[in-house]
Amino acid sequence: MKAAGHSLLAYCRPGFESECAQELAANDRRLASGGFARSERNSGFVEFVLPDPVQAQRFAEQVRWQDLTFARQLLRVMARIDDLPKSDRLGRLMPTIEAAGRRYRDAWIESPDSDAARELAGLCRSLNNALISNMKRAGLLEAESPWRLHVCLIDAQTAFIAEARCDASAEWRGGIPRLRFPSAAPSRSTLKLEEALLTLLDADEREAWLKPGMSAVDLGASPGGWTWQLVRRSIHVTAVDNGPMDPGLLDSGFVTHLREDGFRYRPATPVDWLVCDMVEQPRRVAALIGEWLAEGRCRFAVFNLKLPMKKRYDEVQLCRDTVLAALAATGRVAHWRARQLYHDREEITVFARSG
Ligand SMILES: C[S@@+](CC[C@H](N)C(=O)[O-])C[C@H]1O[C@@H](n2cnc3c(N)ncnc32)[C@H](O)[C@@H]1O
Repeated sequence: MKAAGHSLLAYCRPGFESECAQELAANDRRLASGGFARSERNSGFVEFVLPDPVQAQRFAEQVRWQDLTFARQLLRVMARIDDLPKSDRLGRLMPTIEAAGRRYRDAWIESPDSDAARELAGLCRSLNNALISNMKRAGLLEAESPWRLHVCLIDAQTAFIAEARCDASAEWRGGIPRLRFPSAAPSRSTLKLEEALLTLLDADEREAWLKPGMSAVDLGASPGGWTWQLVRRSIHVTAVDNGPMDPGLLDSGFVTHLREDGFRYRPATPVDWLVCDMVEQPRRVAALIGEWLAEGRCRFAVFNLKLPMKKRYDEVQLCRDTVLAALAATGRVAHWRARQLYHDREEITVFARSG
């Protein structure tokens, strides 16, 4: 066993390890913690190594998973085990888990989202059941504990043993909320907005900010997957797109379809929500959203930014700066939360609002 204790583990979309590492490194510079990233392309995770356990703890306390764009989860590593015996993997894991001297609310055995690691799903499931039984027997589970244990299987012999506070980490295994496609929705894109609202807002915000009777504009709405999510919440939507909208949605009485250019359209009166899924240059979309928020045309916005082939992390920063600067010019504070969702591919989804 290699004792670690001074690194963090972030899960990300395979192929975006470099952006995830860049984002952690930017936080490292801000905190002057002296860390570095270890990553392998398409592995679906990044290990961020700090000089010592004190720095690792500080980093884990200061960098919130919720504030990261490219990480789906952020865990504090306790140990990495490279020689899990096939005959008794749990026997190898348990001493390290017991040595942590903590009780956990729950324990998850999971694997990164890579092609190779996904084949470990069955093993994760069966080991997880046995782990829970072992931990119960050892008195290591406690319903009130703020901590969750994570065992991340990289392959059948290698695991990170890690932990996270439940309130400061993603509440889904692997950082992936498993959403079922609603059969009545007109397109699979609907899952993107559903995941965005679930992961970028908390339960209180969803209740307060997504109320029946509110109004929304959906730019690039056809065929209506995003509009469907709003209509399902009894929100009135102006759907702007030259393409056709799903007839069922138009029959709902909640949708007005305008065949107009989403970059030129402006509502006559302010709306609660602007959502935008137009496939366009990210900085052009960011400028548009910044303008809507700055001019008070909407209170909340969710929008998709298609990432370029290169310098993807830099492009996200530029888009963020564009939106923040537009609001700063009017004396308002902008709130920006962005994530590369499980249902996003070469793109990220952003929630922004003016404060
Ligand atoms: C990815 S699709 C949107 C899917 C939609 N969000 C859904 O859930 O069904 C992108 C849409 O943006 C529209 N679009 C692209 N540029 C546009 C523009 N300038 N104005 C309006 N719509 C535009 C396209 O016609 C296309 O329907």
